Amino acid sequence: MARLDVVETFHGLFFPGHLHTQDSLQLALKFPFQDTDIIIVSYPKSGTTWMQEIVTLISSRGDPDVSQTVPNWARAPWLEHHYFTAVQEASPTKARVITTHLPHHLLGPTLQSSKAKVIYVSRNPKDVVVSFYHFHKMANFLPEAGSFSEFLNRFLDGKLHYGSWFDHIKGWTSQTATMNNLLHITYEEMSMDIKGAIKRVSSHLQSPLLEDEVNNCAKHCSFSRMKDNKMANYTLVTEDIMDHSKGTFMRKGKIGDWKNMFTEELNQYFKSIFEIELKNTKL
Ligand code: A3P
Repeated sequence: MARLDVVETFHGLFFPGHLHTQDSLQLALKFPFQDTDIIIVSYPKSGTTWMQEIVTLISSRGDPDVSQTVPNWARAPWLEHHYFTAVQEASPTKARVITTHLPHHLLGPTLQSSKAKVIYVSRNPKDVVVSFYHFHKMANFLPEAGSFSEFLNRFLDGKLHYGSWFDHIKGWTSQTATMNNLLHITYEEMSMDIKGAIKRVSSHLQSPLLEDEVNNCAKHCSFSRMKDNKMANYTLVTEDIMDHSKGTFMRKGKIGDWKNMFTEELNQYFKSIFEIELKNTKL
């Protein structure tokens, strides 16, 4: 069992040591994907848990039983976490919804020959960094957050756990033209039109739903429902790992919260780095 305070360094990236080991990370890169697998890929704080809920609900045609009785990390475990194999073996259905935060340059080669259905979720990086900043304050397995401007610099330099947001987005979205088993969907799209987003995902998964079923999925994956769902809101995680007195995982669930943290100066700085990093990149 890995320790809470350890940082795992793997291929130059940092990962929380209480969830990752060298073995678990190595195993992730050798995982024999099956064509029937569903893989949710995201940079942290981009809407991962939301997509896990959506996929669970689509699989049950809008019935919330599984999403309200099985924790998200058991129904859609992270490929790179040390408990992954045990969770999979214990799964009664052997359902293979798999989550990962790994960048494409690490996982891409493993996935190359597979027809597994991949869903890449991205979010406005300014909202990602704000969400991640607040999460660092409650997650005892992540380094000290420091001031927001210091944190933003670490984000822009790719020094936070899980590596560079820019590398993540460039790596995965560069595949959309050639990988027809990859769907790129954004947090903003989900926020603005959840039913449309559910239909896009269900069609990608070749599980078309009836209108009523779409409505039920939308109802049960709303922010307010998920905030109250112990199987998705991380309140089952013990205080030593997440200090629930310092924040909530289901924090605001809004587009544009970055405006509450970015000064005009930080915004200009962000913009200048963003333009350099994503020059010639079509998202
Ligand atoms: P905020 O911190 O901005 O509120 P991840 O699951 O990738 O770690 O992302 C967590 C972020 O997604 C948090 O953002 C969380 O509140 C938000 N989120 C989770 N479920 C959501 C939902 N149903 N609707 C809107 N936002 C949601």
